Amino acid sequence: MISSWPVLLGVTFTPVTLTGIYLASTICFVLALKALSSPRHARRGNLIGVAGMVIAVGLTFADQRIGHDWIIGVGMVIGAAIGIPAARKVRMTAMPQMVAAFNGVGGGAAALVSLVEFLHDVPAGVSPDKVVEIIFGLVIGCLSLSGSALAFAKLQELMTGRPITYPSQQMVNGGAGIAVVALGVVTIALPNLGTLAAMAIISLFLGASVVLPVGGADTPVLISLLNSFTGLAVAADGFVLDNLVLIVAGTLVGASGALLTKMMSDAMGRSLPNIVFGGFKPAVATTAGGGVAGDSRSVRSSDAADIGTLLAYSRKVMIVPGYGLAVAQAQHVIAELAKTLEDRGVEVAYAIHPVAGRMPGHMNVLLAEADVPYESLIEMDHANPQFPTTDVALVVGANDVVNPAARDLPGSPIYGMPILNVDQAGAVVFLKRSMRPGFAGIDNELLYDPKTVMLFGDAKESLTKLVASVKAA
Ligand code: TAP
Repeated sequence: MISSWPVLLGVTFTPVTLTGIYLASTICFVLALKALSSPRHARRGNLIGVAGMVIAVGLTFADQRIGHDWIIGVGMVIGAAIGIPAARKVRMTAMPQMVAAFNGVGGGAAALVSLVEFLHDVPAGVSPDKVVEIIFGLVIGCLSLSGSALAFAKLQELMTGRPITYPSQQMVNGGAGIAVVALGVVTIALPNLGTLAAMAIISLFLGASVVLPVGGADTPVLISLLNSFTGLAVAADGFVLDNLVLIVAGTLVGASGALLTKMMSDAMGRSLPNIVFGGFKPAVATTAGGGVAGDSRSVRSSDAADIGTLLAYSRKVMIVPGYGLAVAQAQHVIAELAKTLEDRGVEVAYAIHPVAGRMPGHMNVLLAEADVPYESLIEMDHANPQFPTTDVALVVGANDVVNPAARDLPGSPIYGMPILNVDQAGAVVFLKRSMRPGFAGIDNELLYDPKTVMLFGDAKESLTKLVASVKAA
């Protein structure tokens, strides 16, 4: 029982005041998400989200029902010491694995909170509905922790990124799922640490086991799904702790993660069950040099001088950026090339595929860094009708998102994924280093098309040469 409530800046932090301020924090999270839905307002959205989080964390210290201030303080210092340098140093191309790592520790924290509450409440007797909330937070948190850890290891190339399968894998996973449910029923009827611990261990196994057969381009989608899971585990903890801000923030993360997962799988032309249970299989073996094994097709390549002239005398150029642009960090040079062409009267726009790069909005963020105006970025649905009237499609470090196999080749692993129809442009120029395939490991027929010309080399170097040759044309 608390006899006196803390007073700060003349405000007495009673439970009613605290609930009001928690509400202000949750409103900040909703407004942040709204602003984050457009690149124009994304920066503001981030700041509003930070404000909401500062309020929520500050209140944790003011809320005397929580206590343990020094333990929370130590946790924050350790978390900040690891998180801040990691977030500052991370390359944008490594963002998916960083999201996986942060998401995993979020899930682990949610599971630990559930466990601690169980240990705290059980001796005094705990109601079945609270046990259900605790089980939910623990199981989903454990799934998210081990699944995210494995996804991190795959993307960070600490292990193979390819699907790992073994006989009866789905049956093993199904059996583990049934065991978790059965142990859950026993724990609700007879709360005890033994069955709860067994559930946690099987959930940890299940999380990793579900991620094992997912590989290639599908891993980032799974990370988004696991992110949604962590949100739900946090929301469950909110019910356990009777904490409004955890319930709302967790639900927002759960819902937005689920929506993002749906949008990503739609943009890849796949269903979520197909991604989780399908086992992505790259179709084509490539040689060490990057070409297709046993391939005798001819490829047309040219130099920067010729391609610069082609661009300079075009009426309309559509730039298609992809993952390689991010790897080469060539966003500023590409903006310079576009400006140089525009100064000559060439119409230039950027066609943006929703899953170009390695994370949602990757190309938008990259090009925003180089101050490319938002109006010049054309989403796929609006870009595609423009290709038949485009003289040159300049594909910079993109591959899968322009691969016609996704449109024309039933049986291809990426069949059904909507693509940018660059093959409908008058000419196609690819800037890449070799004939190697993209993330999906799929051969791209368009590279061998007579209307395609390759400019081999690092995208930044090639673009720098193109700027010079357009200026000289
Ligand atoms: P990719 O298909 O991965 O192709 C990238 C190309 O960039 C490669 O062919 C590579 O060829 C080239 N490249 C790499 N470094 C380069 C450099 N320094 N200079 C020039 N070229 C370079 O990329 P994409 O077309 O953007 O497609 C994205 C893929 O990721 C899709 O399969 C998509 O499904 C998957 N994915 C994306 C997301 C999101 S949300 N964006 C999520 C999940 C999966 P070389 O090695 O020959 O240079």
